[in-house]
Amino acid sequence: MINKIEALLKEIEALKAQSSEELEALRIKYLSKKGEISTLMNDFREVAAEQKREIGQKLNVLKTQAQDKINELKEKLDNSSASEETIDLTRTAYPYPIGTRHPLSIVKKEICAIFAKLGFSIAEGPEIEDDWHVFSSLNFAADHPARDMQDTFFVMHGADILLRTHTSSVQTRVMEKTQPPIRIICPGRVYRNEAISYRAHCFFHQVEALYIDRNVSFADLKQTLLFFAKEMFGAETKIRLRPSFFPFTEPSAEMDISCNLCGGKGCPFCKYTGWVEILGCGMVDPNVLRNCSIDPEIYTGYALGMGIERITNLKYQVKDLRMFSENDVRFLRQFEAAT
Ligand code: DAH
Repeated sequence: MINKIEALLKEIEALKAQSSEELEALRIKYLSKKGEISTLMNDFREVAAEQKREIGQKLNVLKTQAQDKINELKEKLDNSSASEETIDLTRTAYPYPIGTRHPLSIVKKEICAIFAKLGFSIAEGPEIEDDWHVFSSLNFAADHPARDMQDTFFVMHGADILLRTHTSSVQTRVMEKTQPPIRIICPGRVYRNEAISYRAHCFFHQVEALYIDRNVSFADLKQTLLFFAKEMFGAETKIRLRPSFFPFTEPSAEMDISCNLCGGKGCPFCKYTGWVEILGCGMVDPNVLRNCSIDPEIYTGYALGMGIERITNLKYQVKDLRMFSENDVRFLRQFEAAT
């Protein structure tokens, strides 16, 4: 029996397992109820009394060694995926999906960067506003339709708190606190009570620009607009100004650029006119300056405002406005290169 035990000890010492199946087979072979060691334990009953002590001790050693060996092999198998031999440190990493900048953020950044070249700095204001900053200070008549419930989201009825319908409110916020020269660009989100469709949403984004100083003229505005259009849409871009009306500017204009798809020849996108509208602008109305304690006898200025979605659509031909707020990564990933 002693020989048998010694032989088993040697055998166990040399055990190897390549897989958990192999390991389980070994466990059954040596340690299960009908395994080799249990069989020896059964035979132990027949051992002569004077040998019991010596053989008993050896059997116990065999059992613990077998147990330890199986545990050791199991641990090795568990760690083998991380063991040094299996890691190839020279392999290239798995591609890790990284986020992309939102197309509206890309375009907003670009617009701000163009105006920064002309010395404009960024100003921001609250999205939850009051009637004074959004309408009254900007020369909207008390019965102007823009104040209507149809367009404006009122946050609290009767409490004069509303969601701003345009970023022109930031003009007032800055002019109230700062004397000219003022040269600011105000990007931000605005809200209007519109039925949501491919061409309208209840929120969208605008960038407002304001320049107030001595002797600012319409010619300055025109030059700024031309510079912006060329920087944004390419050096060959042309601009045209059409007379328009805004309560806060006088005179007011809307600016078109030559269609950047057909180069002005006429296509379905520009409805065969060769021109697409991109922004509103004008000379700041003296009433607005007065409302903000700036003397219109000394200072003049221009303002302009544009929709970021509109500019983005022109640059990237996004057909449906709703894509901008749906968070569909298949859409957003297409802007990876522009980020
Ligand atoms: N606030 C106007 C709007 O939301 C856009 C605008 C037009 C802004 C003319 C201006 C401006 O600063 O001069 O439609």
